[in-house]
Amino acid sequence: MTYLLALDQGTSSSRSIVFDHEGRIVAIAQKELTQIYPQPGWVEHDPMEIWAGQLATAREVLAKAGLEASDIHALGITNQRETTVLWNRRTGQPVHHAIVWQDRRAEPLCARLREDGMTGLIQQKTGLVIDAYFSGTKLRWLLDNVPGARAAAERGELAFGTVDSWLIWQLTGGKVHVSDVSNASRTMLFNVHTHAWDAELLALLDIPASLMPEVKPSSTHFADTDAGLFGRPLPIGGVAGDQQSALFGQACFEAGMAKNTYGTGCFLLMHTGGAFQPSHNGLLVTSAAQTADMPPQYAMEGSVFVGGAVVQWLRDGLKAIQGSAQVQALAESVPDAGGVMMVPAFTGLGAPYWNADARGTITGLTRGTTVAHIARAALESIAYQSAALLQAMSRDAVAAGGAPVAELRVDGGAAVNDLLMQFQADLLGIPVVRPEVIETTALGAAYLAGLSTGVYRDVGELSKQWRVERRFMPTLSRDKAGEKMAQWELAVRRATLA
Ligand code: G3P
Repeated sequence: MTYLLALDQGTSSSRSIVFDHEGRIVAIAQKELTQIYPQPGWVEHDPMEIWAGQLATAREVLAKAGLEASDIHALGITNQRETTVLWNRRTGQPVHHAIVWQDRRAEPLCARLREDGMTGLIQQKTGLVIDAYFSGTKLRWLLDNVPGARAAAERGELAFGTVDSWLIWQLTGGKVHVSDVSNASRTMLFNVHTHAWDAELLALLDIPASLMPEVKPSSTHFADTDAGLFGRPLPIGGVAGDQQSALFGQACFEAGMAKNTYGTGCFLLMHTGGAFQPSHNGLLVTSAAQTADMPPQYAMEGSVFVGGAVVQWLRDGLKAIQGSAQVQALAESVPDAGGVMMVPAFTGLGAPYWNADARGTITGLTRGTTVAHIARAALESIAYQSAALLQAMSRDAVAAGGAPVAELRVDGGAAVNDLLMQFQADLLGIPVVRPEVIETTALGAAYLAGLSTGVYRDVGELSKQWRVERRFMPTLSRDKAGEKMAQWELAVRRATLA
């Protein structure tokens, strides 16, 4: 039997999963990660805790699976993206906590870049909009604010990395400093056309090139782990940012294939093949995970800030339910939302609306409204936001001469909610397809590792291996769905008046 080990280092936890050759889960180990909030709008992680937690889960999952390191053919890594780590090359010690992707501290620097007219240049080179979300301005903040960091960087003593780089550095005992194209494309410093760090962008942000890791395709031999960690060296054969890894794990390898991951937020990605296709609807262009023999591959990306988090709010804010699992039963206790619409714009609205000042809004309340209607509206809001994103993506695809998205593949925790998935299909008018394995983020990393080490011949083999668990077919007429989307848009307009 051939086994692959995926390390999935996410925002809220570190997980390790062993897969068999057919992509079935053999064992999972997970460890929560401490969230550090030094001040409003700032979010940090301790890089040493990330490493220790990830190593502990990797060892634990082998024990749970009853396997030795010698049973593992290769290791893949997938990770929360954009989160920025800066460390000392000699000691291996971080010079500061990691600045997490959600952290907004670099916004003043981004505002300056926008005022200086850099939007077009950055979008053309990186596919991104100027935003504090990405690593580049976080790294600049560290160089400007950590005492001695800039001087040390200029002497070549420091290394920058996204979480994948940091883990590989640790896994190799400080010998290898690398990243992959999908992670590099989230830094706002990487040219997604040439697949190289962009000298002009590095100069613009005053970042020494010596800090940067070597960038490789997502499926290749990155390094071997230090022999002491698992009892024998393991080849690291695949690396990708978590959303691109999920796109790969969903076997979305061709233009027009799309996936949505329903987590705390939702991340919707559509593969655009070899075409760098800028969006006219505020979506991002990003490098898709790719093998060494592929030409540059791209995806369009949009995210919903508050997805499953709306269920947490029902539980912790509104106290309408005791546990998240109760939401489906409560929502199903009424036939529909009774005209109630919820726009969970708790932190503003992202693509395609981009309104930072929007705030959460509930409309359509009557004397007959119950907490069940609100729960249903909350659940439906996840589908409305995702539908608005997918429709924007389809508009971009059609404008570029392609076809609208024909089906949506789904994964992530909230994808188990049948009511939500059915409503999603009804709104979109296309099948919503849930695969057998919804741990597709980790599966993508395992597949990338398996491809570079000869477990799989090509991506065609992975497409055949992708198995449907349930296909939700649309049941609503297109007119009715159109009316519902129009009501949603009206509610969004009210949320943006707040
Ligand atoms: O861009 C941020 C994303 O990579 C985080 O994903 O699943 O760790 O919340 P997750």
